[in-house]
Amino acid sequence: MNKAIEVLDKEHRVITEMLDRTDEMFKSILNSDGDIGDVKKQLEFFRFYADEYHHNKEEKILFPEMVKRNEMLEFGIIHEMLENHEDFRELLGEVNELIDTGSFLEAYDKFREYSRLLLEHIAVEDEEVFQIAETLFSDDELQTIYYHFEDCDLELGKEEKLKLEEI
Ligand SMILES: [Fe+2]
Ligand SMILES: [Fe+2]
Repeated sequence: MNKAIEVLDKEHRVITEMLDRTDEMFKSILNSDGDIGDVKKQLEFFRFYADEYHHNKEEKILFPEMVKRNEMLEFGIIHEMLENHEDFRELLGEVNELIDTGSFLEAYDKFREYSRLLLEHIAVEDEEVFQIAETLFSDDELQTIYYHFEDCDLELGKEEKLKLEEI
């Protein structure tokens, strides 16, 4: 696996792990031995790490480069991926709103929907989108994409990203 895809793959693994942990936290809340503040912090993680660090790399760097190589992708799988990202933003907002109104059970249901769709999305990217990317670009081009990913992290804060990964 080249370095650019490796970055996205690692982010996918961090996100997957956090989905599991958040699920556990929700369960504790529903058994009345958890702190809702912890769940809110986890949701901030998804907004910041999954959406800003990760989805930005795909939306602003990888996907546009892929579409430049193969215009058909814009109306196919890439379109689908972008739509999913929008749905994730909406769902996450809804989970937050439900928590704020004290509807924890509904919030958990919504979170489970978010989690299920996000895991499906990650599987499609791992198994299809990244494979397509590897056939579209040369090693040098992938290396350039990797540098753009690095810039993206630097802009948002590399330290901050490492801290989020360490949690
Ligand atoms: Fe994505
Ligand atoms: Fe992704």
